[in-house]
Amino acid sequence: MKTYNDDEKEVKTGASGRKSESMSATKAGSSKTASAKAKTTGASKSTASTAKKSSYTGDAESDFHTFFVEALKDIYWAELHLKKGLAKMCKASTTEQLSAAFDKHYDEGDRQIAELETVFSLLGEKPEAKRCEAMAGLLEEAESIVSDTKRNSFVRDAGLILAAQKVEHYEIATYGTLYALAAYLPEKRVQEVLGTILAEEKKTDAALTELAEEFINECAAVE
Ligand SMILES: [Fe+2]
Ligand SMILES: [Fe+2]
Repeated sequence: MKTYNDDEKEVKTGASGRKSESMSATKAGSSKTASAKAKTTGASKSTASTAKKSSYTGDAESDFHTFFVEALKDIYWAELHLKKGLAKMCKASTTEQLSAAFDKHYDEGDRQIAELETVFSLLGEKPEAKRCEAMAGLLEEAESIVSDTKRNSFVRDAGLILAAQKVEHYEIATYGTLYALAAYLPEKRVQEVLGTILAEEKKTDAALTELAEEFINECAAVE
């Protein structure tokens, strides 16, 4: 029979196993970088591709541009649909504080949608939404939380915070990556706009944590 300590040991072993795996991955990564560097010293194919990268001027035919725009279409769909989700979460909230937080982010959503449309136009593209399966799933999960919890309960609000933070973390991951990639776009305003949205998402996530820690989690635990 396994004891608590045995399980703990297993977790620790597992964790250290992953660490050594990731260390070897890092080593592999650095040797790959070293070999890439070595290649660029000669007149090799890598040198040509490196030069091409540094002189990227926003060619709409490039894989980088296509990938970036596809990712934008995904988060554009996510933002448009999140509005409906936030409206439902706002209505389902028990406390006024949580309802107000959702309402605030609902309004920010309008601005973020407009900002994404600006990014599309800065890239010479028309705004287009492409179904984001991740956001569709997260919103479905939020609906299940509402149907699985009692109306006017603190557990309902704790659950809604859980669902909303999953959404925020998804948005932070997306905007964080797009922000980093935008550093390589010729139009510098793209990164600026994405940085503004990213900061707003982080602020929303922090506000939800604050509400949970202030009183919602504790009230949920004792009701
Ligand atoms: Fe957003
Ligand atoms: Fe958000």
